[in-house]
Amino acid sequence: MKIGMFDSGIGGLTILHTAIRMLPQEAYFYYADTDHVPYGTKSVEEIRAYSDAAIGFLESLGCDAVVIACNTATSAAATYLREKYTIPVIGIEPAVKPAVEKGGNKRILVIATPLTTREKKLHDLVDRVDNQHQVDLLALPGLVSFAEQGEFDSPAVYAYLKESLKDIDPARYETLVFGCTHFNHFAKALRDILGPNIQMIDGSEGTIRHLQHRMDAAGKQSEGKLSIHYYQSGREVNDTSTLQFYESLLEHLENVK
Ligand code: DGL
Repeated sequence: MKIGMFDSGIGGLTILHTAIRMLPQEAYFYYADTDHVPYGTKSVEEIRAYSDAAIGFLESLGCDAVVIACNTATSAAATYLREKYTIPVIGIEPAVKPAVEKGGNKRILVIATPLTTREKKLHDLVDRVDNQHQVDLLALPGLVSFAEQGEFDSPAVYAYLKESLKDIDPARYETLVFGCTHFNHFAKALRDILGPNIQMIDGSEGTIRHLQHRMDAAGKQSEGKLSIHYYQSGREVNDTSTLQFYESLLEHLENVK
């Protein structure tokens, strides 16, 4: 299968990392929209236009399906994109349902971009599953720019997180939901601040399972070997330092848990 993925930047590597583990013998085409990162502070109309360009590009490469490896673009554009394209467009949403279903009587904190925390899609999801009113939402836009610099545990990151989480009492929370694909990279810093008992979950496995079902249903065959091509807003990445940066981020995800 030829699988396209896109995000505003490096965040979707979280999904690519899970995809490589679950479907290790496929051809991946990863599109980082570096000309327009961040998405989380932009308008719905802008994100629709950028997402449209990304999917149009990935479709032109012959992708069998595209994963929107970005919660923000999923909430702003998934419905619109699915109507426009004939190839399957798989979205990602914050894993609020698994977090609630896990049980427990402490609270659940969903961290995401300002657009995701504001949009109807997430509010509808929370209204549907949060019967006991345990779920709180918090926007952490600053993490996206730190992540794009490859900065995950600097004093500035800790200072930003401490300030942003100052009203969160760790003793009242047991689950942290990553509602932005950039945020997994900060698992260590978040654990240091929220304490060792906090459980962290994301929606990446569910997204890849969904992709797999769609591809099985369409009768798509495995490529038989892994390949990854990277693009920045439609330009193929060939320079060694950027390729090494992406490789190092996939490795970081292996170790950051
Ligand atoms: N990684 C993205 C998400 O999952 C968007 C981050 C951004 O560009 O603001 O929401």
